[in-house]
Amino acid sequence: MGVLGLLRRAGGRVSRSRALARRLFGVDFPPLEGGARYFDLTTPALVSVAGRRLGPGRRLLDMGTGAFATVGLALWRRTGCDVVATDVRPDLVRKARANVEANRAPIRVVEARFFDGVEGEGQFDCVTFNVPYVPSALLSGPDVQSDGGPEGTSVIEGFLDAFAERGGRAIACLGVNRLLVPRAKVVRVVERRPRLALTEVRRRWPWPADVYIITRK
Ligand SMILES: C[S@@+](CC[C@H](N)C(=O)[O-])C[C@H]1O[C@@H](n2cnc3c(N)ncnc32)[C@H](O)[C@@H]1O
Repeated sequence: MGVLGLLRRAGGRVSRSRALARRLFGVDFPPLEGGARYFDLTTPALVSVAGRRLGPGRRLLDMGTGAFATVGLALWRRTGCDVVATDVRPDLVRKARANVEANRAPIRVVEARFFDGVEGEGQFDCVTFNVPYVPSALLSGPDVQSDGGPEGTSVIEGFLDAFAERGGRAIACLGVNRLLVPRAKVVRVVERRPRLALTEVRRRWPWPADVYIITRK
C-alpha cells in the first residue's frame, strides 16, 4: 500500500470515532453501520471556514450532506444559520433526515443533484460542498460518495458549472483534500470558467484540506 493508501486508512479510522465526531461538530450521532463514517478529513476544515461566513438569519445550502448531515448540523449548532441540506442518494437523504430529527434541528433534507431539486428554496448566502474528489484509480470499487473521476475533479467541475449557472448571490465553500487533488489542479478548473472568481483558499491545521471560496462575477 502506498503513502496515500496508508493516509486514507488512518483517516478512515479517525472519521469512524463517534466520540471525536461529537467533539468536533457538537452534535449527536448514532452508532455506525457497515463501512460508514461520520465525516472525512475535509469536513472539519470546511465547517471551520464556512462558520466564519454564517450567522443567525444567513441561509446555508449544505450540498452532499451525507448520511449524518454533519456539515449542516454543525453549522446550524455553531452559528444559528438556516440550513437546507441535500444529497444525490435517496438512502443518504433518509439517514440524514433521521439524524437531523434526533438532533431536533430545523433542517430540511432534500434529494437533489447539484441545484436540481432546490429550485423552490430561494436564495442562499453560502453553499458548502465536501465534494467527492478521490481519483477513481484509488478506489477499490464504485463509490458515489468519494469518486471524483479519473483526475479527482469530475464532480468539482460539475459543481462549478451548476454554481456558475444557478448559484445566485451565494458564496461557495468547496472542500478538497489537497493530498488527493493538488491546489493547482483545482485552481485551473475554476479559472477555466470566466463567470467564476476564486476569492481565497483557506486551510485549518491539522487537516489536509483546502477550502476554496468561490463567487460568481
Ligand atoms: C465526500 S462526501 C461528504 C459527506 C459529508 N458532507 C461530509 O462532509 O462528511 C460527498 C457527498 O456528496 C454526495 N454527492 C455526490 N455527487 C453529488 C451531487 N451531484 N449533488 C449532491 N450531492 C452529491 C455524495 O452522495 C456524498 O454523500
